[in-house]
Amino acid sequence: MMMDGIVVALFAGAALGGWDSVVPTVKNSTAPDPQDVCHGYKADNVVNVPGVGFTATLDLAGRCNVYGVDISQLGLSVQYQSKNRLSVSIIPTNLKQDNVSFYEIPDDELPQGHVDVDADPDESDLVFEYSNEPSFWFKVARRSTGDVLFSTEGAHLVFENQFLEFKTQLPEGHNLFGLGETIEDFKIRSGSTRTLYNADIPDHVGANLYGSHPFYMEDRYQSGKLQSHGVYLRNAHPQEVLIGEDSLTWRTIGGSIELYFFSGPSPAEVIRQYQHVVGYPAMQQYWTLGFHHCRWGYATVEEFESVVDRYQQAGIPVETFWSDLDYMDKRRDFTFDPETYPLEKFQGLLNKLHSKGQHYVPLVDAAINVVDENVDYNTYHSGVHNNVFMKNSDDSVFVGEVWPGPCAFPDFLSFNISHWWVNQLDNFHRIVPYDGIWLDMNEVSSFCTSEGQSCDHPSSTDHVLEDNGFSGPNIRNLEHPPYAINNSVTPNVLGGRTMPPSAVHANGVLEYDWHNLYGYDEARATYVALVEQVMDLKRPFLISRSTFAGSGKYTGHWGGDNHSKWPYLRYSISQGLSFSMFGIPVFGTDTCGFLGDADEELCNRWSQLNAFFSFYRNHNDIQASPQEYYIWPSVEEAAKKAIEIRYWLLPYMYTLLFNANKRGDTFLRALSWEFPADESLAGLDTQFMVGDSLMVAPVLDPGVTKLKVTFPEDALWYDWYTDKLVKKPSKKVKAPLGHIPLYIRGGSILPLQHPGSTTRESRQGDWTLVVALDGNSEAKGELYLDDGESLLQEKTSYTTFTVKDHILTAKKSGNFIDPNHLSQIKILGVKKSPKTVLFNSHNVDFDHKHHTLIVNLNSPSSSEQTVLSNQDTDWLDHLTLEWM
Ligand code: GLC
Repeated sequence: MMMDGIVVALFAGAALGGWDSVVPTVKNSTAPDPQDVCHGYKADNVVNVPGVGFTATLDLAGRCNVYGVDISQLGLSVQYQSKNRLSVSIIPTNLKQDNVSFYEIPDDELPQGHVDVDADPDESDLVFEYSNEPSFWFKVARRSTGDVLFSTEGAHLVFENQFLEFKTQLPEGHNLFGLGETIEDFKIRSGSTRTLYNADIPDHVGANLYGSHPFYMEDRYQSGKLQSHGVYLRNAHPQEVLIGEDSLTWRTIGGSIELYFFSGPSPAEVIRQYQHVVGYPAMQQYWTLGFHHCRWGYATVEEFESVVDRYQQAGIPVETFWSDLDYMDKRRDFTFDPETYPLEKFQGLLNKLHSKGQHYVPLVDAAINVVDENVDYNTYHSGVHNNVFMKNSDDSVFVGEVWPGPCAFPDFLSFNISHWWVNQLDNFHRIVPYDGIWLDMNEVSSFCTSEGQSCDHPSSTDHVLEDNGFSGPNIRNLEHPPYAINNSVTPNVLGGRTMPPSAVHANGVLEYDWHNLYGYDEARATYVALVEQVMDLKRPFLISRSTFAGSGKYTGHWGGDNHSKWPYLRYSISQGLSFSMFGIPVFGTDTCGFLGDADEELCNRWSQLNAFFSFYRNHNDIQASPQEYYIWPSVEEAAKKAIEIRYWLLPYMYTLLFNANKRGDTFLRALSWEFPADESLAGLDTQFMVGDSLMVAPVLDPGVTKLKVTFPEDALWYDWYTDKLVKKPSKKVKAPLGHIPLYIRGGSILPLQHPGSTTRESRQGDWTLVVALDGNSEAKGELYLDDGESLLQEKTSYTTFTVKDHILTAKKSGNFIDPNHLSQIKILGVKKSPKTVLFNSHNVDFDHKHHTLIVNLNSPSSSEQTVLSNQDTDWLDHLTLEWM
């Protein structure tokens, strides 16, 4: 209770002098710097673990109790887990002695890295060293170069029950990426603080947003070579990272230090190595890649239907229509409003969509409306009955407030949750056969919080102020920890716009210790429910607002409530690149922006930019004016053009998703990842690559019609629209409204399919192979095919295409048979007109203009060479093209 006294005093002060100047936060310059007052630890009892690393104890070198209670003894474990991964874990070993509570995330919740069978400390790319002078510090260096990647030299380790701090040196002018979810430039600026605390904040620049990803990558350029490494802190507690000119300080208010170092050395390898620990992303159904449309504010099923019709009349292919909460009865999950969305009518509409190969995704909010006994709302009543809701410390159901009013929050740790959640999703699916689920408000958001925000029902947080994790004198102050992270909500306490940190999960786990995992858990439970029961073993399609490290295993993500403003168009790229790093390849921002009115020019540009993101959805707020693409003729035209290109590219994009799932490759890529020798590309976030073959150079400002495009020098670039080689990269390119500059990188082979109005139709289109030759007249590409929906595939194929010595060949493995024809091969960059072209050893007609060789395989003169698929073989089994 002593703590309560302190809290009261702090608040009194806050009222007078302002919160930030009183409560220790990163903004308060008078708050004690732990590095000035703490003394760190001394390592002792070092025990070698052969083939793995070593363990040691760390004893407190002197008390400081700066923002909590010092932990007197810690266990250090250093593991060389694989050639490219080292883990350093520091956890309390004698909590009884300090009388403190402590929470560590169990392994089955968030995966840990394990020691590979062939791990060998002497062979590792990384070397760990430590010293006790003046107190324990350690460094991790790259073995091959001796370059120190991480060093806590000169800083004390601080480990208290409510405050942990370690600090590493960074080279000046560092190139640091990751540490989200935050909207800012892709490269993290010196002087900024990244707060990792999941919050319902409508996309404030620099703020902590919906998810937490305690992972960064640092790129170092040395003598024209890029070497990257990555660092992941497996800690889900509220935390923040202070990035200075030459240092990085990591603070968390609980948990342990479990650090993973990834040696790269290429950015792609760092990202793969990180995902190897947190999990590779889920494979998607083919239709994920279609164009999605949504809006909050379709008040009736008629209005919804008229949007479907108008899109169709306009000839804009919509793959998936989404419902925001408008369909719900009194905004309650898993219900349909009988007045505005009568079920029968809606089911009819849904049948119509499905019969055309279109899809439907409804919104599900995390919170469940609390109703009286006499109100017929089974989701709530059965939840109470099954004991699945979050609790107050007196075991009553915790009640907050979200869209429907008073709400209870499913506790995804509770014993009966899987059974109850499966039932909700399954029963709902029986009435409305949705194709995927949109998980919203799962930070978790609650408008009615313990302080400052009024609730029209009695607050249930009054009696939950203490830590019930451990009873002893050193009870943690959950509501107002001694060090306050810089949470950007109002009020900026941990319980601001969410559940209070003292709310209780099953087994007494406190929200304080679990908050950042709420959305992760919900997505996992939903994924499992869809796979196991609801969707007949189809790959689940999920989009979740809140995410944590490893969420990609279950869900995609959208960028939340962005604004219909030009800077947010630009930030879409850095957001997308960050989520590539975080292992969530299915990502997109709300196209044309969510909040505020989009204007025609902005929506035009945005409709084209996001067509190159893996997840492409137009969505906006109920208050904002409509922004369906057919509203403005110019936008309609621009969107159609971009969707057509996207649909040509579906096979390429699907292959990227497959490679993400198989080995942690990325979909959206920074130019610097693909061209590591070019230091000038570091941090460039106004252009991006889709996979390794396509570069997008969008217009990001109003009134611009000519654009300075950066063309990495290390490659040849062909204009997508003209097939022509870019000869003068320094010249501005034309980018009138409705045109998005797009380039194929020399050396690529793109398998394309003639687009239809849905992804299903597009899968029936003829194939075209576009080969863009590099400076050595070579190229390669890949294509993955399967049935496009099943989790377990009976038949798949993976084909690699190669061009060498003027011969294009395909090498297919696997037994999937594609029934469509190859109708065209286009080779860009053939300087001299060939005399003869042989397709599968037969002479074929060809065209050669402006260095592009075109072979039409369906033209009457070459019809005898058209490759027809039959039951055992397809065009990929027999493919050679030779020109001479
Ligand atoms: C949240 C979501 C937004 C949605 C709205 C209403 O703000 O982020 O996408 O439209 O809730 O459900």
